[in-house]
Amino acid sequence: MAVKWNSIALWAGVGAVILVAVLLSTLQNLGSSGKNGPYSIGMTFRGEASTSRAFTWRYDQGEADGVLQVALSRDGLVKDQADKLSFTASREIRTGEKGKTEGVYQAEASGLSPTTGYWYRVGDAAADVWSEPASFTTGPEAGADGEVSFLHVTDSQGETEADFRLWSRTLEQAVRQFPQAAFIMHTGDLTENPEDPAAWRHFFDLARPVLSRLPLMPTTGNHDEVDNDALEYRSRFFLPDNGITSKDKGPSYSFDYGPVHMVVLNTESDLNKQRDWLKKDLAASADKPWRIVAIHRGAYGGNRYDKLEDWVKVFDEYQVDLVLQGHNHEYSRSYPLRGGKVVGNGDDPVRERTGTVYVTPNTAGPKFNDKKEDLFYHKVHFQNKKQMFGGVTVAGKTLTYEAYDVDGRLLDRFVLEH
Ligand SMILES: [Fe+2]
Repeated sequence: MAVKWNSIALWAGVGAVILVAVLLSTLQNLGSSGKNGPYSIGMTFRGEASTSRAFTWRYDQGEADGVLQVALSRDGLVKDQADKLSFTASREIRTGEKGKTEGVYQAEASGLSPTTGYWYRVGDAAADVWSEPASFTTGPEAGADGEVSFLHVTDSQGETEADFRLWSRTLEQAVRQFPQAAFIMHTGDLTENPEDPAAWRHFFDLARPVLSRLPLMPTTGNHDEVDNDALEYRSRFFLPDNGITSKDKGPSYSFDYGPVHMVVLNTESDLNKQRDWLKKDLAASADKPWRIVAIHRGAYGGNRYDKLEDWVKVFDEYQVDLVLQGHNHEYSRSYPLRGGKVVGNGDDPVRERTGTVYVTPNTAGPKFNDKKEDLFYHKVHFQNKKQMFGGVTVAGKTLTYEAYDVDGRLLDRFVLEH
């Protein structure tokens, strides 16, 4: 009997030691993250997608210094504490919810290795207050031509927490459908009112399970830049600054991810300046296998059609493959278009860059417009009154766009081939 009790005591002791070790390791990885820590955390590309990652966040204690910590990850945890990298954030004070001040922080991790998993957290090192740790994977080496997938969503445009639950549900379905997606293209109108910090917090925090690991690359919409002012929207994203420089208005920028060259334009202001920049950007990326443009208002049929005609001429001249759009809150996909006309028979697949396809994946938010009139360029056009998303997959000489509703139903699919 004595032997049996000794053995029970021994195993209980071993169990307690293991429990304490697990708790200590968890605490070490978590820090004291939680409720009062950083919020509205946005992750973006700024430098090379293969070797860097940029972050913006807000924090109530705006006088505190901000730090981004990054480390090689193993199963979502820090692989080796000794290799943890720290990057100091820039800091600015703005007015947050209920008129309280808050800090706006921006930091970029650089010098990372391509196609590698990293653990990260952001926060206040002095007070040991951190975001929940999360992980991201860097992009492929520049020039690599392996398969790449990304998501296309638009017009989340919410006001309330309930509105942004529709947005987060759409993103969660999107990553179920495309678990391999590497980033998210948002084609504008992220919130209804960019001056409402609570809406931004819902935008980021309710979708945190997805946005913590996938960069979201935004496009300026008419609800993001109002009267030539996009300061609030701009302060939420740390973006490439290779486009038109204007510190108040929505940005234009471009970036590469594997074989994809992505150009993001702002339909709300400085259209002529952006046309000139677009020409230079597309001329400099002529060797990139796939060239895709993101804009908010539709180039065809939008209420700025006449003003965007100049951009369309550039898309035609440089044979842009695909234009991702928003604004109309309905699903529309164009025939391949060139010079304002449908080219070829318009059937799939579109071969050899004969035309550019324009696609608007309804909305990822609460508002649906009545379906607009069918026009000559519409190949597919409907209003299903369901949140939707697109998944784009580029594999060698083929690009596939698949449009799903929030319940996972495939509603449209098209292929471009080079
Ligand atoms: Fe919108």
